[in-house]
Amino acid sequence: MLDVPFLPFCAFLGTLGLLCVAMVGTWCQHWRGGFSLDGSSRTFNWHPVLMVTGLVVLYGAAALVYRIPNTWSGPKLPWKVLHGSLALGAFILTVLGLAAVFCFHNSQGTPNMYSLHSWMGLGTVLLFSCQWAAGFGAFLLPWAPTWLRALYKPIHVFFGSTILMLSVASCVSGINEKLFFSLKNGTMEYKLLPAEAVFANTLGLLILIFGVLVVAALARPSWKRPDSDSPDSRQPLLSAER
Ligand code: HEM
Repeated sequence: MLDVPFLPFCAFLGTLGLLCVAMVGTWCQHWRGGFSLDGSSRTFNWHPVLMVTGLVVLYGAAALVYRIPNTWSGPKLPWKVLHGSLALGAFILTVLGLAAVFCFHNSQGTPNMYSLHSWMGLGTVLLFSCQWAAGFGAFLLPWAPTWLRALYKPIHVFFGSTILMLSVASCVSGINEKLFFSLKNGTMEYKLLPAEAVFANTLGLLILIFGVLVVAALARPSWKRPDSDSPDSRQPLLSAER
Protein backbone atom coordinates (compact mmCIF):
# COMPACT_ATOMS: atom_id res chain seq x y z
CA MET A 1 0.00 0.00 0.00
CA LEU A 2 1.14 3.61 -0.59
CA ASP A 3 2.99 5.01 2.41
CA VAL A 4 0.93 8.20 2.79
CA PRO A 5 1.13 9.99 6.18
CA PHE A 6 -2.23 10.25 7.97
CA LEU A 7 -2.48 14.02 8.33
CA PRO A 8 -2.01 15.00 4.63
CA PHE A 9 -4.44 12.20 3.76
CA CYS A 10 -6.88 13.66 6.26
CA ALA A 11 -6.47 17.14 4.75
CA PHE A 12 -7.24 15.65 1.33
CA LEU A 13 -10.33 13.89 2.74
CA GLY A 14 -11.46 17.13 4.40
CA THR A 15 -11.17 18.96 1.08
CA LEU A 16 -13.08 16.19 -0.68
CA GLY A 17 -15.81 16.27 1.98
CA LEU A 18 -16.16 20.05 1.69
CA LEU A 19 -16.30 19.72 -2.09
CA CYS A 20 -19.18 17.22 -1.75
CA VAL A 21 -21.08 19.64 0.53
CA ALA A 22 -20.40 22.57 -1.82
CA MET A 23 -21.51 20.54 -4.84
CA VAL A 24 -24.76 19.27 -3.33
CA GLY A 25 -25.56 22.86 -2.24
CA THR A 26 -24.75 24.19 -5.71
CA TRP A 27 -26.89 21.52 -7.39
CA CYS A 28 -29.92 22.39 -5.24
CA GLN A 29 -29.38 26.14 -5.50
CA HIS A 30 -28.49 26.41 -9.18
CA TRP A 31 -30.64 23.70 -10.83
CA ARG A 32 -33.36 22.83 -8.28
CA GLY A 33 -34.59 26.30 -7.27
CA GLY A 34 -32.86 26.93 -3.93
CA PHE A 35 -34.11 26.56 -0.36
CA SER A 36 -37.20 27.45 1.68
CA LEU A 37 -39.33 26.09 4.53
CA ASP A 38 -42.73 26.30 2.81
CA GLY A 39 -43.24 22.57 2.07
CA SER A 40 -42.42 23.00 -1.64
CA SER A 41 -39.64 21.31 -3.60
CA ARG A 42 -37.41 24.04 -2.17
CA THR A 43 -38.01 22.50 1.25
CA PHE A 44 -37.07 19.11 -0.18
CA ASN A 45 -33.71 20.61 -1.24
CA TRP A 46 -32.60 20.69 2.40
CA HIS A 47 -32.79 16.88 2.38
CA PRO A 48 -29.80 16.09 0.11
CA VAL A 49 -27.69 18.90 1.59
CA LEU A 50 -28.28 17.85 5.22
CA MET A 51 -27.91 14.12 4.52
CA VAL A 52 -24.61 14.51 2.66
CA THR A 53 -23.25 16.96 5.26
CA GLY A 54 -24.47 14.95 8.27
CA LEU A 55 -24.49 11.26 7.47
CA VAL A 56 -21.49 11.25 5.12
CA VAL A 57 -19.05 14.11 5.80
CA LEU A 58 -19.57 14.79 9.53
CA TYR A 59 -20.07 11.09 10.24
CA GLY A 60 -16.83 10.31 8.32
CA ALA A 61 -14.99 12.93 10.39
CA ALA A 62 -16.34 11.39 13.61
CA ALA A 63 -15.24 7.92 12.51
CA LEU A 64 -11.65 9.09 11.93
CA VAL A 65 -11.10 10.83 15.30
CA TYR A 66 -9.24 7.85 16.84
CA ARG A 67 -6.87 7.66 13.87
CA ILE A 68 -5.34 11.06 14.78
CA PRO A 69 -1.97 10.20 16.37
CA ASN A 70 -2.50 12.81 19.16
CA THR A 71 -5.37 10.65 20.48
CA TRP A 72 -3.02 7.76 21.19
CA SER A 73 -1.45 9.26 24.33
CA GLY A 74 -2.69 11.39 27.22
CA PRO A 75 -6.26 11.64 28.47
CA LYS A 76 -8.85 10.01 26.22
CA LEU A 77 -11.87 11.87 27.53
CA PRO A 78 -11.59 14.92 25.20
CA TRP A 79 -11.32 12.63 22.18
CA LYS A 80 -14.25 10.49 23.31
CA VAL A 81 -16.30 13.66 23.75
CA LEU A 82 -15.20 14.94 20.32
CA HIS A 83 -16.07 11.59 18.67
CA GLY A 84 -19.48 11.46 20.38
CA SER A 85 -20.22 15.14 19.67
CA LEU A 86 -19.38 14.92 15.95
CA ALA A 87 -21.60 11.83 15.73
CA LEU A 88 -24.36 13.67 17.60
CA GLY A 89 -23.99 16.63 15.19
CA ALA A 90 -24.28 14.18 12.29
CA PHE A 91 -27.40 12.71 13.89
CA ILE A 92 -29.05 16.12 14.38
CA LEU A 93 -28.44 17.11 10.72
CA THR A 94 -29.80 13.70 9.67
CA VAL A 95 -33.02 14.17 11.63
CA LEU A 96 -33.47 17.66 10.13
CA GLY A 97 -32.79 16.23 6.64
CA LEU A 98 -35.45 13.56 7.15
CA ALA A 99 -37.89 16.14 8.53
CA ALA A 100 -37.41 18.18 5.32
CA VAL A 101 -38.34 15.29 3.00
CA PHE A 102 -41.28 14.10 5.14
CA CYS A 103 -42.59 17.68 5.34
CA PHE A 104 -42.27 18.00 1.55
CA HIS A 105 -44.08 14.69 0.91
CA ASN A 106 -46.85 15.45 3.41
CA SER A 107 -47.54 18.92 2.07
CA GLN A 108 -47.63 17.63 -1.54
CA GLY A 109 -49.78 14.58 -0.67
CA THR A 110 -47.01 12.20 -1.83
CA PRO A 111 -46.97 8.78 -0.10
CA ASN A 112 -44.13 8.14 2.34
CA MET A 113 -41.65 5.28 2.39
CA TYR A 114 -42.45 3.59 -0.93
CA SER A 115 -39.01 3.57 -2.60
CA LEU A 116 -35.95 1.35 -2.16
CA HIS A 117 -34.02 4.56 -1.41
CA SER A 118 -36.36 5.44 1.47
CA TRP A 119 -36.23 1.92 2.95
CA MET A 120 -32.45 1.75 2.78
CA GLY A 121 -32.10 5.35 4.03
CA LEU A 122 -34.39 4.92 7.03
CA GLY A 123 -32.74 1.56 7.84
CA THR A 124 -29.36 3.32 7.84
CA VAL A 125 -30.61 6.07 10.14
CA LEU A 126 -32.13 3.54 12.56
CA LEU A 127 -28.85 1.59 12.62
CA PHE A 128 -26.95 4.84 13.23
CA SER A 129 -29.28 5.73 16.13
CA CYS A 130 -28.69 2.32 17.75
CA GLN A 131 -24.93 2.68 17.18
CA TRP A 132 -24.85 6.11 18.85
CA ALA A 133 -26.96 5.02 21.83
CA ALA A 134 -24.99 1.78 22.34
CA GLY A 135 -21.64 3.62 21.96
CA PHE A 136 -22.72 6.23 24.49
CA GLY A 137 -23.89 3.59 26.95
CA ALA A 138 -20.84 1.37 26.59
CA PHE A 139 -17.98 3.86 26.27
CA LEU A 140 -19.10 7.10 27.88
CA LEU A 141 -21.16 6.00 30.87
CA PRO A 142 -19.00 4.97 33.84
CA TRP A 143 -20.94 1.90 34.93
CA ALA A 144 -20.56 -0.27 31.80
CA PRO A 145 -18.48 -3.32 32.82
CA THR A 146 -15.09 -3.83 31.13
CA TRP A 147 -16.13 -7.20 29.68
CA LEU A 148 -19.12 -5.56 27.98
CA ARG A 149 -16.90 -2.84 26.43
CA ALA A 150 -14.44 -5.47 25.19
CA LEU A 151 -17.29 -7.50 23.71
CA TYR A 152 -19.00 -4.53 22.09
CA LYS A 153 -15.95 -2.66 20.72
CA PRO A 154 -15.36 -4.80 17.57
CA ILE A 155 -19.12 -4.69 16.88
CA HIS A 156 -19.07 -0.87 17.16
CA VAL A 157 -16.07 -0.67 14.81
CA PHE A 158 -17.70 -3.02 12.27
CA PHE A 159 -20.99 -1.13 12.23
CA GLY A 160 -19.13 2.20 12.06
CA SER A 161 -17.82 1.34 8.59
CA THR A 162 -21.01 -0.47 7.57
CA ILE A 163 -23.20 2.55 8.37
CA LEU A 164 -20.93 4.84 6.36
CA MET A 165 -21.17 2.54 3.32
CA LEU A 166 -24.96 2.36 3.73
CA SER A 167 -25.09 6.19 3.91
CA VAL A 168 -23.10 6.43 0.70
CA ALA A 169 -25.41 3.90 -0.98
CA SER A 170 -28.44 5.91 0.23
CA CYS A 171 -26.98 9.14 -1.18
CA VAL A 172 -26.13 7.58 -4.54
CA SER A 173 -29.59 6.01 -4.87
CA GLY A 174 -31.22 9.30 -3.78
CA ILE A 175 -29.26 11.34 -6.34
CA ASN A 176 -30.13 8.86 -9.07
CA GLU A 177 -33.81 8.87 -8.12
CA LYS A 178 -33.97 12.67 -8.01
CA LEU A 179 -32.38 12.92 -11.47
CA PHE A 180 -34.93 10.47 -12.92
CA PHE A 181 -37.80 12.41 -11.26
CA SER A 182 -36.57 15.84 -12.38
CA LEU A 183 -35.02 15.33 -15.82
CA LYS A 184 -37.80 13.86 -17.88
CA ASN A 185 -39.01 16.33 -20.46
CA GLY A 186 -37.77 17.52 -23.84
CA THR A 187 -34.14 18.53 -24.09
CA MET A 188 -33.65 17.99 -20.35
CA GLU A 189 -34.06 14.19 -20.41
CA TYR A 190 -31.60 12.33 -18.14
CA LYS A 191 -30.52 10.06 -21.01
CA LEU A 192 -29.42 13.14 -23.01
CA LEU A 193 -26.95 13.90 -20.20
CA PRO A 194 -27.62 17.61 -19.60
CA ALA A 195 -25.13 19.62 -17.53
CA GLU A 196 -27.15 19.02 -14.34
CA ALA A 197 -26.86 15.24 -14.80
CA VAL A 198 -23.09 15.44 -15.38
CA PHE A 199 -22.76 17.57 -12.24
CA ALA A 200 -24.94 15.34 -10.02
CA ASN A 201 -23.41 12.09 -11.37
CA THR A 202 -19.97 13.53 -10.51
CA LEU A 203 -21.24 14.42 -7.03
CA GLY A 204 -22.40 10.81 -6.55
CA LEU A 205 -18.99 9.48 -7.55
CA LEU A 206 -17.17 11.92 -5.23
CA ILE A 207 -19.40 10.85 -2.31
CA LEU A 208 -18.56 7.23 -3.13
CA ILE A 209 -14.82 7.97 -3.27
CA PHE A 210 -15.04 9.86 0.05
CA GLY A 211 -16.76 6.87 1.72
CA VAL A 212 -14.30 4.33 0.33
CA LEU A 213 -11.30 6.43 1.43
CA VAL A 214 -12.68 6.82 4.97
CA VAL A 215 -13.29 3.05 5.24
CA ALA A 216 -9.79 2.38 3.83
CA ALA A 217 -8.27 4.76 6.40
CA LEU A 218 -10.21 3.04 9.22
CA ALA A 219 -8.98 -0.38 8.08
CA ARG A 220 -5.31 0.56 7.68
CA PRO A 221 -3.38 -1.18 10.52
CA SER A 222 -0.59 1.44 10.84
CA TRP A 223 -3.16 4.20 11.45
CA LYS A 224 -4.83 2.39 14.34
CA ARG A 225 -3.97 3.26 17.94
CA PRO A 226 -1.14 0.83 18.87
CA ASP A 227 -2.74 -0.17 22.19
CA SER A 228 -6.30 -0.20 20.91
CA ASP A 229 -6.95 -3.65 22.42
CA SER A 230 -5.30 -3.03 25.76
CA PRO A 231 -7.50 -3.03 28.90
CA ASP A 232 -6.45 0.60 29.50
CA SER A 233 -8.15 1.77 26.32
CA ARG A 234 -11.45 0.39 27.61
CA GLN A 235 -11.60 2.41 30.81
CA PRO A 236 -14.81 4.26 31.58
CA LEU A 237 -15.28 7.97 31.02
CA LEU A 238 -15.38 8.99 34.65
CA SER A 239 -12.42 6.88 35.80
CA ALA A 240 -9.62 8.51 37.76
CA GLU A 241 -7.25 8.72 34.75
CA ARG A 242 -9.51 11.34 33.17
C1 HEM B 1 -27.75 9.11 3.96
C2 HEM B 1 -28.42 9.77 3.11
C3 HEM B 1 -29.91 9.69 2.91
C4 HEM B 1 -30.87 9.07 3.67
C5 HEM B 1 -30.69 8.29 4.95
C6 HEM B 1 -32.15 9.32 3.02
C7 HEM B 1 -33.38 8.90 3.48
C8 HEM B 1 -34.59 9.13 2.88
C9 HEM B 1 -35.87 8.72 3.36
C10 HEM B 1 -36.12 7.91 4.64
C11 HEM B 1 -36.81 9.13 2.48
C12 HEM B 1 -38.33 8.87 2.54
C13 HEM B 1 -39.11 10.09 2.94
C14 HEM B 1 -40.60 9.87 2.78
O1 HEM B 1 -41.00 8.78 2.40
O2 HEM B 1 -41.35 10.82 3.03
C15 HEM B 1 -36.12 9.81 1.41
C16 HEM B 1 -36.73 10.36 0.31
C17 HEM B 1 -36.06 10.90 -0.75
N1 HEM B 1 -34.70 11.13 -0.83
FE1 HEM B 1 -33.31 10.62 0.52
N2 HEM B 1 -31.93 10.07 1.90
C18 HEM B 1 -30.57 10.32 1.80
C19 HEM B 1 -29.93 11.06 0.86
C20 HEM B 1 -30.51 11.56 -0.27
C21 HEM B 1 -29.83 12.30 -1.30
C22 HEM B 1 -28.34 12.70 -1.31
C23 HEM B 1 -30.73 12.58 -2.24
C24 HEM B 1 -30.44 13.35 -3.49
C25 HEM B 1 -31.25 14.17 -4.05
C26 HEM B 1 -32.01 12.02 -1.83
C27 HEM B 1 -33.19 12.05 -2.55
C28 HEM B 1 -34.43 11.64 -2.08
C29 HEM B 1 -35.67 11.74 -2.83
C30 HEM B 1 -35.80 12.23 -4.28
C31 HEM B 1 -36.69 11.30 -1.99
C32 HEM B 1 -38.20 11.26 -2.30
C33 HEM B 1 -38.61 10.01 -2.97
C34 HEM B 1 -38.50 8.82 -2.07
O3 HEM B 1 -39.19 8.75 -1.04
O4 HEM B 1 -37.68 7.97 -2.38
N3 HEM B 1 -31.83 11.42 -0.61
N4 HEM B 1 -34.77 9.81 1.68
